[in-house]
Amino acid sequence: MTQQRGRFITLEGVDGAGKSTHIAWLTDAVRAHGVSVVSTREPGGTPLGEQLRALVLTEPMALETETLLMFAARSEHVRTVIQPAIEAGEWVVCDRFTDATYAYQGGGRKLGASRIATLEQWVHPAFQPDRTWLFDVPLEVARARLADAREPDRFEREGAAFFERTRAAYHARAAADPERFRIIDGTQSIAAIREQLDASLAEMMAAST
Ligand code: TMP
Repeated sequence: MTQQRGRFITLEGVDGAGKSTHIAWLTDAVRAHGVSVVSTREPGGTPLGEQLRALVLTEPMALETETLLMFAARSEHVRTVIQPAIEAGEWVVCDRFTDATYAYQGGGRKLGASRIATLEQWVHPAFQPDRTWLFDVPLEVARARLADAREPDRFEREGAAFFERTRAAYHARAAADPERFRIIDGTQSIAAIREQLDASLAEMMAAST
């Protein structure tokens, strides 16, 4: 009998949208359905990827360099962690993936989509998340949350216009692929968000059996 393929779930959203609060809970929720699950993140998820993450979040660099480093980390992550897990029948919950490059570098930093599409085609052709939950909040909510958090990284230090372009690019991604995306109103209570994630997860589980 051939092994059933696992599923690839990603969480996306602007900084301060609240997705990180739900990662551990979501991973446990997937596991509670009786499937084995890997929880990971981008940039990062491998020893090399975590080193690239440290650089890209702190060192000043050209936009092209930044975009290539995101994809360098992703290439390693897809090949050594994500795809092997999915092929082994495991589910993967990933905090950000290529939609973040379209949103942050493409939208926030105004690179546009076409070079990113070229890199995506090279690094993970014909491979996309099965489900993407996009956490969405307005600027004031995100800012209030970030103000209480740790020292801001290079992206969190950007201004309101960068935030709005990033958020708009995420919305455009979601509008272009409504099958894959579910938008979560990140201003809701944690309990309300978990209820929504639970329902969406149950739907995925039912479709995968
Ligand atoms: P995190 O704080 O959600 O872990 O994400 C780290 C930062 O990296 C966040 O500000 C978004 C940014 N980022 C990009 O700019 N492009 C990407 O492709 C990814 C994966 C993250």
